[in-house]
Amino acid sequence: MRAFAGRRVVLAVSGGIAAYKAVEVCRRLVDAGAHVTPVLTPAAKRFVGEATFSALASERARLSLFDDDDPIPHVTLGQQADLVVVCPATARVIGAYAAGLAGDLLSATLLATRAPVVVCPAMHTEMWEHPAVRDNLRLLAERGVTVVAPEEGRLAGGDTGAGRLAAPESILAAAAEALAAGPQAPVRDMVGLRVLVTAGGTREPIDPVRFVGNRSSGKQGYAVAVEAAARGAKVSLVATVRRPLPDSVDLVLVETAEELRAAVVDRLPAEVVVMAAAVADYRPAAPAADKIKKSGEARTVTLEPTPDILAELGRGGQVETLVGFAAETSDVLANAEAKLRTKGADLIVVNDVSAPSVGFDGDTNEVVLLDAAGRTAVPLTSKRQVAQAILDRVVALRAAR
Ligand code: C5P
Repeated sequence: MRAFAGRRVVLAVSGGIAAYKAVEVCRRLVDAGAHVTPVLTPAAKRFVGEATFSALASERARLSLFDDDDPIPHVTLGQQADLVVVCPATARVIGAYAAGLAGDLLSATLLATRAPVVVCPAMHTEMWEHPAVRDNLRLLAERGVTVVAPEEGRLAGGDTGAGRLAAPESILAAAAEALAAGPQAPVRDMVGLRVLVTAGGTREPIDPVRFVGNRSSGKQGYAVAVEAAARGAKVSLVATVRRPLPDSVDLVLVETAEELRAAVVDRLPAEVVVMAAAVADYRPAAPAADKIKKSGEARTVTLEPTPDILAELGRGGQVETLVGFAAETSDVLANAEAKLRTKGADLIVVNDVSAPSVGFDGDTNEVVLLDAAGRTAVPLTSKRQVAQAILDRVVALRAAR
């Protein structure tokens, strides 16, 4: 874990029984070369003594906004941090952070930092499933905070269920990723590349007013286009929906799979193509010229396959790095592995769209990146950060060619 060497990490520990597990996370961060400052809430101190953290970390544990030599410890800690890991994060701390309340040193530090923040919730199942906690976490994820979801397992009081703190390995992997993504301006590592992105769901007409469509919002594709432009690429976006976009991006609006295909082919060759659009696999074979009248009878619409644009690009030789998406609801990774092989893509972005806060319409996503070299998990975060992870992988694959 070279990612942590010499980096300043605030380990923010709130008061749940899982606080004892933060000791292990602290030790691993220190072993990985991080400079760790523990910050404990008063309740955390009831579970694990400050001496334990002080002995293992790089600095003594901090507890209060006031009983320190430093008159503004939260500002000093927040400004100096390269990363803040909240482990465990109780429902109260999650709520305070989402609401912008700074009642203690830990929550004040969270508001006083521009460093990436990783939140690791741990609580009883009832609390974890409460809509207030869910909404607060969604809000934090939309703001770019990484949320490391808890696991199922034994909880305090002999109960079993969802809400047990994630394993230390998962927490460290997410922390390394957040540290690498950073809050800084993006690196301009795509200058000179033509990047073609597709976004949104296609609409295949049944008649002049009705269509066969899907739930795609286009937000993930737009995030990829915005991120690629920020990194210096010359970006074309073929989309079915309109959203805010920098002026430098060339936008083409389309509706059907056939129109999307034509617009994409028209813009080739390109060094990188990211097919984030949810392109219909089937369309009505003979759309009616006039609006179909209500008759009270059952109706059949015959569907025919649409052109598989991704597979066509995979065969075509006009794209150097081809990225496909796989929105799945079952056998998620197996289906995506098959897509990687059969479509000739270099990278497949997989999401399990049956999971909450993932995929269609929301501002957050959680994906796995699959390529010939292996898998990279991107935990629940904003669609912009998912776009960063996708383009990081694209740049790495191109460098390794
Ligand atoms: O085969 P499936 O539709 O599940 O594959 C999804 C991927 O293929 C997405 O990247 C999507 O943009 C692309 N696709 C396509 N042409 C189609 C259907 C999907 O390029 N007709």
